[in-house]
Amino acid sequence: MEIVILPTADEVGRAAAAKIAHLIARKPDTVLGLATGSSPLAIYAELAVRREQGLDVARVSGFALDEYVGLPVAHPQSYASVIRTTVTEPIGLDPARVHVPDGLADDIEAACAAYEAAIGAAGGVDLQILGIGANGHIGFNEPTSSFSSRTRIKTLSSRTREDNARFFGTLDEVPSHCVTQGLGTIRDARELLLVAQGENKADAIAAAVEGPLSSMVPASILQWHPHATVIVDEAAASRLALADYYRHTFAHKPAWQRWDA
Ligand code: F6R
Repeated sequence: MEIVILPTADEVGRAAAAKIAHLIARKPDTVLGLATGSSPLAIYAELAVRREQGLDVARVSGFALDEYVGLPVAHPQSYASVIRTTVTEPIGLDPARVHVPDGLADDIEAACAAYEAAIGAAGGVDLQILGIGANGHIGFNEPTSSFSSRTRIKTLSSRTREDNARFFGTLDEVPSHCVTQGLGTIRDARELLLVAQGENKADAIAAAVEGPLSSMVPASILQWHPHATVIVDEAAASRLALADYYRHTFAHKPAWQRWDA
């Protein structure tokens, strides 16, 4: 796992976008796994700038990590809406290539199986963008999620509903269920890129990166992935025991391995 610690949240977004742009330049039909929430917003904003500067995204496709169950697609906080307004439109992706799990299907299990099949038909995810919940979740795989889980319905924890209430008017408006790619689905992506900013993520980052592999910390599955990168600001890195080692390693990375230009 590569751990990159940068001074500010803005720099986290710019560096992560540089890594993604680097991949798209090498593989124009890149399949991205798309997270919602606050953490990746700076990445999407920077990719929009890079697209204006000539990054060709015409063949890029995307699969969102998750969706609330029961929220109308037109609701501003449905992840279908959030992905459209923060990713597809600003970056200029082809909407036909951007997919979000169906949280309104009559047969949720069949819709989840179809989502897995669609990811497979696209050739699998090349790079999965991830945020992390304060309780260590990735996607909406709450603590105790199986490391081999696939896309399925989950019940949101009270911590996650409270954390996400800021996007809704009241806590009661936050749906109690979601459809999320499983940890096994996420692990199948060829590359994982997790970003976190702020002190309220520091415990989750320390547990995910340096703690034991445990379903109590779903993000610890990154330790098991052959190509995982974690980019954090100083506040989110503040409880990492080996922070100095990560800083030294990144500062002395050979030029041929760099992706942060
Ligand atoms: C959202 C998702 C979640 C968020 C996590 C952090 O698609 O998969 O795992 O990444 O809840 O949310 P923020 O970034 O809002 O702190």
